[in-house]
Amino acid sequence: MDGLSGIKPVSGVTIKRLGGALGAEILGMDLAKPLDAATAETVKRALSEHLVIVFRGQDVPPAAQIAFTRHFGKVEQHPLYRTAQIPEYPEILVLEHKGGQFLNGRNDIWHADITFSETPPLGSVLHCKAIEEGFGDTLFANVQRAYERLSPGMKAMLGKMKAVHSAELLQRRNNKDSYNVGIKDIPPAVEHPVVRTDPATGRKGLFVNPAFTERFADMTEAESKPLLDYLYAFVPQPEHVYRHRWRVGDVVMFENRCVWHYVSCDYPPEMHRRMHRTSATGDRLV
Ligand code: SIN
Repeated sequence: MDGLSGIKPVSGVTIKRLGGALGAEILGMDLAKPLDAATAETVKRALSEHLVIVFRGQDVPPAAQIAFTRHFGKVEQHPLYRTAQIPEYPEILVLEHKGGQFLNGRNDIWHADITFSETPPLGSVLHCKAIEEGFGDTLFANVQRAYERLSPGMKAMLGKMKAVHSAELLQRRNNKDSYNVGIKDIPPAVEHPVVRTDPATGRKGLFVNPAFTERFADMTEAESKPLLDYLYAFVPQPEHVYRHRWRVGDVVMFENRCVWHYVSCDYPPEMHRRMHRTSATGDRLV
């Protein structure tokens, strides 16, 4: 343990920061085995503090990945991608690129997962099953750090605002490019505060994202666009970003309300990339 605030030491477990913006590697754990309560608490605190936590060299069967994710919240099937790729485990969303085809989206858009839900995921867990190291990295941007760097005037204005989130934008994009399974039954749009305070740390962060935020509440899309575009350019600056270079066996969990993520589709058409994703449901945002 390297003396990080609020994180209780657990024997044999070490936490190492991965960069200035966010991210930490947790060493000394085997996620295929059940976690005891003290270790689970340490991992939760590490997630709240570092927002992205990385476990290298893991081989986690689907049931164990679901059990690990359950420490953070209820684990449910993705609300829109309804085809279970691993039939016994519908809670696992398989994100795959194989033979030049994408299964369940390519995700080269900055986003937070499922913010069109009343209760967006607290976090998602990605287990890398196939990759060529150096290709198909995932980038994570810290929306708390971005918020902290806004001017007092901008913070005060955004702090009073709400935004409308919907899956419709992504449906339009995916259907147009026809690289995805059909997304049906788009749920009604929801409103969330534009600035969210994380109860675990008291830190504030921006809660809008380019994939699912349609507009600010009580404004038109045209009126909302200039300010949203400003925030969309401001958040993913290099100073706010950790870039994860995948190896097969990596498990990466991210705090979905406090980071955006983006998959770099820089890999050749023949490259196989496969992730098993689980998500833990969060609370209604206030
Ligand atoms: C996602 O959850 O958006 C995809 C992440 C990844 O495939 O690296």
